[in-house]
Amino acid sequence: MKIINNKNKLIKLLHREKKLGFVPTMGAIHLGHISLIKKSLRECNKTIVSIFINKPQFNKKSDFRNYPRSLKRDILTLKKNKVNYLYLPKVNEIYPKGSNKNIKISSFKKKLCGKSRPGHFESVVDVIDRFIKIIKPKKVYLGEKDMQQFKIVEEFMKRNRINTKIVGCKTVRDKNGVALSSRNFLLTKKQKSVASKTYRLIIKNKRYLINNTNYLNYIKKEIFELGIKKIDYIEVVDINKIIKPFKKEKKIKIFVAYYIGRIRLIDNI
Ligand code: PAJ
Repeated sequence: MKIINNKNKLIKLLHREKKLGFVPTMGAIHLGHISLIKKSLRECNKTIVSIFINKPQFNKKSDFRNYPRSLKRDILTLKKNKVNYLYLPKVNEIYPKGSNKNIKISSFKKKLCGKSRPGHFESVVDVIDRFIKIIKPKKVYLGEKDMQQFKIVEEFMKRNRINTKIVGCKTVRDKNGVALSSRNFLLTKKQKSVASKTYRLIIKNKRYLINNTNYLNYIKKEIFELGIKKIDYIEVVDINKIIKPFKKEKKIKIFVAYYIGRIRLIDNI
């Protein structure tokens, strides 16, 4: 695995690559990231992973500061998984003139996570767009764990006719149903068990929630009873009807964002 932290070196190194798969990450690599990497390794000739904790997409300084960092372990994991290139950019190579505050993205940004995270999705799209311009991959792999992120990035790339395919990858869960996330590294065993109970509660009641959204209040109460102090949202959403062109067939998911202690977790089930 080649590790590169210089943009011009990277561009030179990649210019001959014809079928490059790209997996952007913020590190603290786990099996969710690895599933994206494996798909890219299967579908593309070479795979490049980036690790870059993108400060502008954080709404709270403390969240950025406390974000888990484990570069040494990440490098070993990526090598073991036969990643071809790892890009570790410096901030000023990605943002030589600061971030782009005028990026236009789908109005879906106002829903779900967007309500409590103004500017978050613009910053995500901005950084992915910057990476795509440097790396020029055939395909970018994103997780459906962050479904809203995936849908917004996909719509942006299509609308701007960017010749890179955005590929969605299924959510990877631990044996207790908890969606893997770098933020899980910050949870205690007890907190993980609360996350697992929340997942089980939602999956068990999914059918009722779809048929009767009034049922949401009951589920919220049950979630609070598990010891969760704050729910950002829990909503029933047909993901085929959120960004045009809509699809006829229904694909309904329960979207949830809640806090365990100070850690914010999201899922769609
Ligand atoms: P990060 O949270 O590191 O996630 C990197 C990629 O892994 C994202 O596409 C995310 O959806 C995917 N992923 C995370 N957990 C997953 C799981 N349990 N199953 C499947 N995929 C999972 O998301 C980001 O970083 C950033 O916003 C980024 C796209 C890198 C832009 O800064």
